[in-house]
Amino acid sequence: NVLILDFGSQYTQLIARRVRELNIFCEIKPYNKLPEDLSEYKAVILSGSPFSVRADDAPHPDLSQIKGKKPLLAVCYGAQYLAHFGGGNVAPSNTREYGRANLSYIKPDEVFFESISEGSQVWMSHSDTIQKLPEGAMVLASTHDVENAAYRIAGEETYAIQFHPEVYHTKDGKQLLENFLVKIAGLGQTWTPDAFVDSTVAELKRKIGDEKVILGLSGGVDSTVAAVLLHKAIGKHLHCIFVNNGLLRKNEFEEVLEQYKGMGLNVKGVDASARFLDALKGESDPEKKRKIIGRVFIEVFDDEAHKVEDAKWLAQGTIYPDVIESVSATGGPSATIKSHHNVGGLPDFMKLKVVEPLKMLFKDEVRRVGRSMDIGEERLGRHPFPGPGLAIRILGDITAEKVAILQEVDHIFIKGLRDWGLYDKVWQAGAMLLPVNSVGVMGDERTYEKCVALRAVESTDGMTADWVNLPYEFLQKMSNDIINKVPGVNRVVYDISSKPPATIEWE
Ligand code: XMP
Repeated sequence: NVLILDFGSQYTQLIARRVRELNIFCEIKPYNKLPEDLSEYKAVILSGSPFSVRADDAPHPDLSQIKGKKPLLAVCYGAQYLAHFGGGNVAPSNTREYGRANLSYIKPDEVFFESISEGSQVWMSHSDTIQKLPEGAMVLASTHDVENAAYRIAGEETYAIQFHPEVYHTKDGKQLLENFLVKIAGLGQTWTPDAFVDSTVAELKRKIGDEKVILGLSGGVDSTVAAVLLHKAIGKHLHCIFVNNGLLRKNEFEEVLEQYKGMGLNVKGVDASARFLDALKGESDPEKKRKIIGRVFIEVFDDEAHKVEDAKWLAQGTIYPDVIESVSATGGPSATIKSHHNVGGLPDFMKLKVVEPLKMLFKDEVRRVGRSMDIGEERLGRHPFPGPGLAIRILGDITAEKVAILQEVDHIFIKGLRDWGLYDKVWQAGAMLLPVNSVGVMGDERTYEKCVALRAVESTDGMTADWVNLPYEFLQKMSNDIINKVPGVNRVVYDISSKPPATIEWE
């Protein structure tokens, strides 16, 4: 197990992903919440930071139990931190040290740089520079502008690099991490999806025994993988609830329910469409729509959960990015992710013990685990779909008729993407029903009907996104099919806005 100490860098999660890609498990902890017992960590990585080590409020953790005692890799801020407090000197740099650079010197015969050659491209992102190395340190690599681009401390397994091995543009970054973690720290590359499934199933069995667990399925990747893991561990003691809020894609509820049953899951489908639509009647404000849907979901779920007698656990498909307590850019640890409710006011199901089998996994790892349990690609490769569903894609108030129109449009678009082999090239896609009518002409008739916007984006995490350059022929076909087949729609537009400044959803 590897400990990544986070100083608030935007790249900290990337370090974790690179380490896990090497099949080595790692955890991120904020620098100001250093675990007391470090015995389980075989190596430590210090992250970068938006701070300058020279600032008064810069992170200043106590590394006395780590440095010189365990293999330590200090990245960027970490490297400057070791220099600044180890007898070296860190000063503002007078040349630009952002972006691409190449290693112009590498000290020969260093395990740390094994299989990496001079000229290798690295990615820099820092405004301070290490002018003088800390005591006992020797230079391992330099670039044209940065002499102390990498160093190690003699007699210790302490390595420091000014560039970022975790970013894609540092070409040999993964090799460097492997050299450090495998060749220097001696870690095994044993953390595979199969190993995760075996150990998690055993752990769930031990923890839950023969008590009953309730889980809300959404049709999405996370809740599905969580359900299958729990099913492997406790079988019929897992009670899944799948709520139709009436805002899902066309046929999604029925089809996904069938798939779940085919996987052997003990799942109850609850069609609460009317209840949701009723509660949403007349509401146009996006945030209020979200709140109504959240509230009704909790009511419906609570009713259903009560029907499972003697349930002791609530399972959730929470994944690692929701859990990591990263350090915010202002230095303090950011607030814990979940808001703390007043326990007295919680619905009963929220008073259950919580089990979150995926809470240490990134999204792509959840997919890998799903594949290793033979969950089909039609579940695992599915585009993200928002919890409030089509409600936030129908601008303005929601009626059953508008939902039906949008479901048809969305169905044509998504099926089209699949038929044209474009579905997997797109991160997320959908259609928006706009609150405007426009004039058209069909046959000899003047029409005055609705306009829909199609949206397809590429992204890795939904935080930033760009529109996809779909072929014109495809857009032409979609426009034709939609206008000819969906009564009430006479105009189709394609959204060419990136996020930021737009967002993926229109509400
Ligand atoms: P935006 O529109 O903020 O969307 O660019 C980013 C990602 O989040 C999804 N999204 C939501 N998911 N509840 C959800 O569960 C919501 O209220 C919600 N709003 C946006 C959106 O589909 C995209 O994947």
